[in-house]
Amino acid sequence: MWTSCALLLLLLGLGLQIQCYQCEASRDCATPDFIVNCTVNVQDTCQKEVLVKDDGIHYRKSCASSGACLIASSGYQQFCTGKLHSVCITCCNTPLCNGPPQKRRTPQSSTGTSATLQGALVSACVLLLLLEPLLC
Ligand SMILES: *[C@@H]1O[C@H](CO)[C@@H](O)[C@H](O)[C@H]1NC(C)=O
Repeated sequence: MWTSCALLLLLLGLGLQIQCYQCEASRDCATPDFIVNCTVNVQDTCQKEVLVKDDGIHYRKSCASSGACLIASSGYQQFCTGKLHSVCITCCNTPLCNGPPQKRRTPQSSTGTSATLQGALVSACVLLLLLEPLLC
């Protein structure tokens, strides 16, 4: 049981390494020097913050876990006005998706579904591990 679960988690993890832009700058950084490898199986999301300050627009980009990014982005939704002191946080989960806005984007829902499936599989696995002593 342990091994099959470990294998399952490993397989899930193998597909989960993504790269994101990481920087904190006053421009929309998107050159190869800003590309980082995100932590396998933990950081499955690229996060992008756009802040409107007195001296202009600032960008903060990084890898993140999808949960943390979604919480941040929904928490700041009311501050995303596009005006002075606006803070907008967006999350996406395709490689390098936190670069400058693209004309054509892959819909987020398709990748969101696979993340949900993955979460369900991990939960099932943990549940099995917890139940194992009771079954034997
Ligand atoms: C990211 O990982 C790839 C291979 O997995 C490696 O070639 C590359 O140098 C890494 N990049 C950084 C910025 O660590």
